Amino acid sequence: MRIFITGGSGLLGYRLAEMAQERGYDIYSGYCHNKPESGNPVKFDLADADSIIKAMNDVKPDIVIHSAALTDVDRCEVDKNLAYKVNVEGTKVVAELARKLDSFMVYISTDYVFDGEKGMYKEDDETNPMNYYGYTKLLGEKHCQDFCIARTCVIYGAKPASGKVNFALWLIEKLERGENVRIVTDQYITPTLNTNLAKMVLELAERKIGGIFHLAGATRVSRFDFAREIAKEFGLDESLIAPSRMDELNWIAKRPRDSSLDVSKAMESLNNKPYDLGKALRVLKKEISW
Ligand SMILES: NC(=O)c1ccc[n+]([C@@H]2O[C@H](COP(=O)([O-])OP(=O)(O)OC[C@H]3O[C@@H](n4cnc5c(N)ncnc54)[C@H](OP(=O)(O)O)[C@@H]3O)[C@@H](O)[C@H]2O)c1
Repeated sequence: MRIFITGGSGLLGYRLAEMAQERGYDIYSGYCHNKPESGNPVKFDLADADSIIKAMNDVKPDIVIHSAALTDVDRCEVDKNLAYKVNVEGTKVVAELARKLDSFMVYISTDYVFDGEKGMYKEDDETNPMNYYGYTKLLGEKHCQDFCIARTCVIYGAKPASGKVNFALWLIEKLERGENVRIVTDQYITPTLNTNLAKMVLELAERKIGGIFHLAGATRVSRFDFAREIAKEFGLDESLIAPSRMDELNWIAKRPRDSSLDVSKAMESLNNKPYDLGKALRVLKKEISW
């Protein structure tokens, strides 16, 4: 089976590519700036329709996992034109080609399609993005409604990806150096280990299950408590983590207060279940020490 993973150099994409390759699939890892280590690298630009058409027609995938996006939330707010091109128009072209090539597609979306007023969102809850990134990802969903839409929340994992470290790695590095950090107590999330997410996404792709799924960690926590749990699991000094509040941070784009996702649909219908935070952090620790 030929799988085209857009965003193959990203935090989810690299883990998907590693795992799908281990399962013996023929993997094509799409990227724009950072060449992926797993799979056959395919360079293309979501802002350039011709390059998407060439990449998809060359690969002719049975499955497309569309994970690539402009994920920098503040950059999307400042460069709305680019965010729209990449996240909306690029997704539209990918979806049209998937239909033309008779490929099944999983579109990776986000908790940021919600405004964060309620928390523990279910798949059919009303969307209402509060920043431009969330708005473009939601418009991307509209182009993929005949496929599978997998929304996730705050991904973390054992390696840097797409030229960036994720929250968990950043925190571990800071605490290992004995540096103080300030983490918000009033933002709630369901943080998601990339390995767990990749397993669930691959299952949806292999079983060609359509519809919307919330694929995230099974534990709702504040970002502050998430940081403390990481420190505990890695034997680091929790007293270096000081509380702060969202309104003290100089974010350009607004963030939802509680974008936690209810994962009961995934829990009931998938063989690969969302991990609770304890299990996810134990897996992360093992992966980091490999
Ligand atoms: N990270 C989170 O906390 C989070 C939370 C909720 C939802 N999501 C969604 O999950 C998906 C995966 O996120 P992630 O964290 O794995 O992403 P990431 O690490 O930020 O990586 C983004 C990926 O998209 C690619 N990309 C960016 N612009 C592109 C362009 N113009 N053309 C082609 N490829 C381009 C990047 O390629 P290069 O590295 O080569 O530039 C990279 O592979 C995204 O759709 C995101 O919206 C993420």
